[in-house]
Amino acid sequence: RTFKRQMMCRRDIDSLSVPFLAIYESLIPPEEEKLKQKQLLGLLEKLVSKEWPMARLYLYGSCANSFGVSKSDIDVCLAIQEVDMDKSKIIMKLADILQSDNLQNVQALTRARVPIVKLMDPVTGISCDICINNLLAVVNTKLLRDYANIDTRLRQLAFIIKHWAKSRGVNETYHGTLSSYAYVLMCIHFLQQRRPAILPCLQGMDATYSVTVDNVDCAFFDKVEKLGHFGRHNKESIAHLVWGFFFYWAYCHDYANSVISVRTGSTISKRDKDWTRRVGNDRHLICIEDPFEISHDLGRVVDKRSIKVLREEFERAADIMQYDPNPCVKLFEPY
Ligand code: GTP
Ligand code: MG
Repeated sequence: RTFKRQMMCRRDIDSLSVPFLAIYESLIPPEEEKLKQKQLLGLLEKLVSKEWPMARLYLYGSCANSFGVSKSDIDVCLAIQEVDMDKSKIIMKLADILQSDNLQNVQALTRARVPIVKLMDPVTGISCDICINNLLAVVNTKLLRDYANIDTRLRQLAFIIKHWAKSRGVNETYHGTLSSYAYVLMCIHFLQQRRPAILPCLQGMDATYSVTVDNVDCAFFDKVEKLGHFGRHNKESIAHLVWGFFFYWAYCHDYANSVISVRTGSTISKRDKDWTRRVGNDRHLICIEDPFEISHDLGRVVDKRSIKVLREEFERAADIMQYDPNPCVKLFEPY
């Protein structure tokens, strides 16, 4: 029971790609910022290995998945096998180690859902969150980066959608809207279901990369350079895709029955996942399956009030893309 509203895209849509690409270009982090991130990671590695020689640090999140815009904070994961130390003890110890160096505002947040150490490096001006043993995030970061290397339109679309979401105040999980990670998955799903498809389903192909993390088997095809230019048969311009993305989430997605699933390259039914009713705080009003933790709905943060806000924002954006003479201005207007 899918309902699809048909709509013809405006005729001048492709001419709008020029201003959209200009916005994309302006958001790309400069090379020197990347160098500073590496420099800070190097410093952290040095400090950590003094205390824990076997520990490893990994970058994850937007600084490593290629969806990071300029001036983002960096997310770091400390991989450590300390059998007789619980996470909050490690966090406290880590904060101690870092405090003693020249780093500023070192804070241990042991009670957060994901316990972290926060800090700021005065030399590079970069802020950083360090979590412990969150290796699934390191693996999903690689999956997103591999998708980004298949077709540049994914990175362009995701930058524009993230920029829109931040401008419109709908990128705030503590207010019931979606994380950046959720928006990127929505973009990947959208490009997987275009016809011809712009992205393949890497988890549906013969695996060339396979790890088991926290009892989850993570396997997918990661030799993306071997795909040639997978999306070459689809010639849709970036403006057309921005239009299509908003139109999809405003008028095509079946919120009542469907779950979007990058893992399967398609949608699956809410009933199959038993996501049809509220369980605890998970309301499943918009369902986005995590590619590896498949019992995890990234839409779980969305409540009765914020689903309305989100859907109205998708409709507003779709209408602007369809009718506004100058959509690039109106779309990103602060709310
Ligand atoms: P910005 O910081 O907004 O630029 O984006 P980001 O890509 O860093 O996203 P975010 O801060 O939302 O999340 C950081 C990383 O944590 C993501 O890239 C994921 O790897 C991981 N992550 C975030 N939320 C979840 C979640 O609910 N489940 C899992 N498994 N991983 C998550
Ligand atoms: Mg981040």
